[in-house]
Amino acid sequence: MCGIVGYVGQKQAKDVVIEGLRLLEYRGYDSAGIALVHDNALATDKKAGKLANLEKAIAEAPLPSSTTGIGHTRWATHGAPNDVNAHPHAGPQRRVAVVHNGILENFARLRDELERAGHDLLSETDTEVAAHLLENEVRAGADLTTAMQNVCRRLEGAFTLVAVDAEDPSRVVAARRNSPLVVGLGDGENFIGSDVAAFIEHTREALELGQDQVVTITREGVEVTSFDGSPAEGRQYHVDWDLAAAEKDGYDWFMRKEIFEQPRAIADALLGRHDEAGLLQLDEVRISDDELRDIDKIVIIACGTSNYAAMVAKYAIEHWTRIPCEIELSHEFRYRDPILTRNTLVVAISQSGETADTLMAIRHAVKQKAKVLAICNTNGSTIPRESDAVIYTHAGPEIGVASTKGFLTQLIACYLLGLYLAQVRGTKFGDEIAAVVRELAQMEDRVQQVLDDAARTYALAERFRDAKSVLFLGRHAGFPVALEGALKLKELAYIHAEGFAAGELKHGPIALIEPGLPVFCVVPPRGRDQLHDKMISAIQEIRARGALTIVLAEGDDTEVTPYADVLIPLPTVPTLLQPLVATVPLQLFACELATLMGHDVDQPRNLAKSVTVE
Ligand code: F6R
Repeated sequence: MCGIVGYVGQKQAKDVVIEGLRLLEYRGYDSAGIALVHDNALATDKKAGKLANLEKAIAEAPLPSSTTGIGHTRWATHGAPNDVNAHPHAGPQRRVAVVHNGILENFARLRDELERAGHDLLSETDTEVAAHLLENEVRAGADLTTAMQNVCRRLEGAFTLVAVDAEDPSRVVAARRNSPLVVGLGDGENFIGSDVAAFIEHTREALELGQDQVVTITREGVEVTSFDGSPAEGRQYHVDWDLAAAEKDGYDWFMRKEIFEQPRAIADALLGRHDEAGLLQLDEVRISDDELRDIDKIVIIACGTSNYAAMVAKYAIEHWTRIPCEIELSHEFRYRDPILTRNTLVVAISQSGETADTLMAIRHAVKQKAKVLAICNTNGSTIPRESDAVIYTHAGPEIGVASTKGFLTQLIACYLLGLYLAQVRGTKFGDEIAAVVRELAQMEDRVQQVLDDAARTYALAERFRDAKSVLFLGRHAGFPVALEGALKLKELAYIHAEGFAAGELKHGPIALIEPGLPVFCVVPPRGRDQLHDKMISAIQEIRARGALTIVLAEGDDTEVTPYADVLIPLPTVPTLLQPLVATVPLQLFACELATLMGHDVDQPRNLAKSVTVE
């Protein structure tokens, strides 16, 4: 959702804040704003639309020099994305300015209370309420830290708030509940960000905050308290990537860069996963082998693309471990009253580690005493912190809003989890596990092979640039790939796209087929002969009705060639691992088509990278 930056130090706060917002803009881009403290007053500017609009406004009407400031890039929840609703919001006397990520659930009641007391609120946002409450507190004599503690105790919902007080340029104060916030630890300067990208240019030392904590940064240091004012501590950690990883590196889009980074990301996700004897080791899994042996059910929860990784994981984990494995969308999970016991392993897959739906689902699982294991890409994020165990995917920062390397490395982590469980429970022999691990180690090269053939997919995007609808078909592990291909196209190209299990076609969706309709068909490897043959039958059925078939199949699969209007050759890999290679052309197709259509690939309309509201 929104991106938040705070700075106090010796540099020009405007430069630090705007640069931080640029690196956080993927989180939300409906509007952007900045507040600086200068000469006992606030200097603010905010504009609807992307950060570039704000930068233009500042270039035309420069802000004063200041070394204390906050900034915001918004994904709208309360109120339309216009100049007035853009953050920061100020108190009635413009003494306090606040930026906010999340939703204040009791804002209507608080707003009513303020209006009765004569406050005039200018925007439709919940945030402005917090600004007025904070200003009431500081005008009554509290310092900004105490004011934040007092106000936070009155707020309900999920929020990160960051505030400055015009009469106290020495500090920036922030607070968090169920919403991301990290502190960057500098030398004579300190930073606040929604994630570390906000300050990675300046420091790689970070402090993660716990739930319901307030942090005050000054030039000299950082102080953490609970909402009740009692001293608290964050956890300090070193960020293992740098600014270069957060830059586009010559590509037109972060998404394209991240697609091409996938071979390396796969290699990193596999790094150090076995010991000298060749046994798999997952150091971060702090659930004992005995406990893992007692697991009698696995429930995988996730949203969006991560949910498709979960679907693939089910095929692999059930096959290798014989443990029943359910998949559930995080936002549906707790509302169906799931049956969870101490012997249930809940696996939460989240690239960002901050998805509110998934966070709430794991909290429910923890309450039911299930064991929770997170598969996550973001060190220091909330979901792994609240889980019993974590497998980090080590993909590096994923900035493009549409997940790519995040997805492929989630798949790797799921395979590793399945194999690890098989090792611990003895459902696969060591040599069988070693064989799959060897196959996984080759996937870096296999994915590179697909990327080397990108021109073929780009040509296809050119050919279908006027398509109004595109379908995707798959079976078995290819079914989630079809769903992922359709999701990528919807979110980037804004055209109708749907993924189906090929066997389901004849139960209704086949009515959608009309002459010329492009249909991507993910064909399972020939090693699974029944699956393979049934997929070919499905392709014949749609082709007979005029569909234009774009077939993703093993390069030397001559059986399928007669039914392919276009063939996208895939390397030969085991069926369960095929999603790693089959997804890549679909990512390339969506990225290229959206580019040709003139869309903003990294920041598609209405979306945000990290969905921190339910
Ligand atoms: C689609 C996409 C989203 C995310 C979903 C879950 O390209 O990126 O569907 O997969 O919002 O996000 P995480 O994995 O961060 O929990």
